[in-house]
Amino acid sequence: MCGIVGVVNDKDASQVLLDGLLNLEYRGYDSAGIYLFPNIIVKTIERVASLKTKVGELCSDIGIGHTRWATTGIVSELNAHPHLSYNKKITLVHNGIISNYKEIKDKLITAGYSFYSETDSEVIANYIEYLLNEGLTINKVLEKVLKDLKGELAIIFSIKDDKGLYFLKRGSPLVIGKNNDSFYLASDIEAIKNKVKMTYYPNDLEFGYLNKDSASLFRHHKKINIPFVKEKNEFDKESKENIDCYFKKEIEEQPEVIKRIKSYYIKDNKLKPEYQRISDDISRFNKVVLIGCGSSYNAANLFKNYSDSDKFETHIGSENLKINNNNCYIVISQSGETFDLIKTSKMIKKTGAKLIVLSNGKNSSLKRLSDEFLYMCALSEKSVAASKSYLASITILTLMLSKITNYDYFFKRINRAIRYMVKNEKELDSIALKISSLSSMYYIGKGEDKFLCDEGSLKLKEISYLHVESIYSGELKHGPIATINDSFGVLAISTDKKYESRILTSLEEVKCRNAPCFLFSTNSKISDVSFISGPKKLKSIGILIGLQILSYKVAKILNRDIDKPKNLAKSVTVI
Ligand code: F6R
Repeated sequence: MCGIVGVVNDKDASQVLLDGLLNLEYRGYDSAGIYLFPNIIVKTIERVASLKTKVGELCSDIGIGHTRWATTGIVSELNAHPHLSYNKKITLVHNGIISNYKEIKDKLITAGYSFYSETDSEVIANYIEYLLNEGLTINKVLEKVLKDLKGELAIIFSIKDDKGLYFLKRGSPLVIGKNNDSFYLASDIEAIKNKVKMTYYPNDLEFGYLNKDSASLFRHHKKINIPFVKEKNEFDKESKENIDCYFKKEIEEQPEVIKRIKSYYIKDNKLKPEYQRISDDISRFNKVVLIGCGSSYNAANLFKNYSDSDKFETHIGSENLKINNNNCYIVISQSGETFDLIKTSKMIKKTGAKLIVLSNGKNSSLKRLSDEFLYMCALSEKSVAASKSYLASITILTLMLSKITNYDYFFKRINRAIRYMVKNEKELDSIALKISSLSSMYYIGKGEDKFLCDEGSLKLKEISYLHVESIYSGELKHGPIATINDSFGVLAISTDKKYESRILTSLEEVKCRNAPCFLFSTNSKISDVSFISGPKKLKSIGILIGLQILSYKVAKILNRDIDKPKNLAKSVTVI
């Protein structure tokens, strides 16, 4: 994961880097650091806010910055970026993973180099220095870096006493921005969007150099001027409210998201022609494969189950996909930057199969790969745990892939279901309190409810750190029931009358074995079991919102860092 940022020829370089890193913190927040020309390096193993305090009044007009999600090496100041090479010639930040770094490190150690960190990134800095010392030109050095280092890398680095920055990209995202004679680099345009007028997104294997007088790019061994284009500024406006938890705010924003989807996709109670065309095009295919990771995969599964059609298949983004170019592939990704999805999408493109991307990332890598793009309309989702993007995914998949006769009515029903749960959220307080005292839980359900369990349990585990698993209720007696006890609870979801008696029986069976039991149902209560009632219309959506709110309440009681849970990042940009 990790976010990198760079600035050339801007007298507010330290501010630009710190603001950029704040916007990139969603990519990882284990540590952060900046380098300011000519020789200042400041690092922290806290958040970017604390880096800001450490940097204070330091200034320069050129520098680089990094926010880290640890991959190789523990979280420590030594492992934090920027990394300095052995003879202090190179200062570098890196996003990506070098799979053969140990091999190169051993070669450098034999050549007399020593290392202070455990990272693959320090190896890149040293390898560049080593090759330069061998007498290679910088272009030859970077060509050799691309050849010898395996894996993904977007790097920005400075060479001692040179008032410019070099960059190189393969696999990991990078954008270059320009404003008059100032240049900016970042993993994501969000980090530099307020500074730039023109942008260029380098392709894989491209590298280049920026200083106040020039901006050059090397493509297939040829030097060209960077082909900047005017930035379209398709950025979402962000609300500036001072809120302490984005996750809760984003749950509550869901009616707003639904409204946006409606005005984006629908006119006069019909799909707008440009979306009707995409919908008709998809309907020509016999097989439509929905691909996602985490919550986006859960959304695909809930939609598939709801559609009740063999036409749809779901596929988890990190698993191998057998591509058939007669199929249509729909990749779902809030960020549009998930590594496994980019890799799979590139393979889909290679075979010539149709690739549709449903994403919140209007400037994302996945959008650039897609044949057709469906915008999620969720606006910026800052909390690491997905909420509104999941609902947006389900809603847009339903709009585009099912037969809806009355769109106005469809939207009205979703809104009602959301509002029902938001209005009744107090009902969840006592249940959240009981759950917060447990060590583990099973979420159980049958049919469509199991897919709600998948998403609800993912939410609870990621922000409360409880151990929570989602299982089919019928599977309990085939093993899992062995683990339950008075601190291992069971929450059952029941929206379908036809399965009700089986769900209630499962709960009775765990109740008499002392497990604390909870029932979230649109049907009957059961005595001695903590009960949450769901809405009668669009039950799944209502229950989903309830599960999001419940997770928030448990995490709040446990005093967790809800928006930035430990060990996670918003966008999973590495293997
Ligand atoms: C869960 C969550 C993650 C993401 C997953 C995919 O709350 O946020 O599971 O859903 O990392 O991310 P995107 O949708 O950006 O590809």
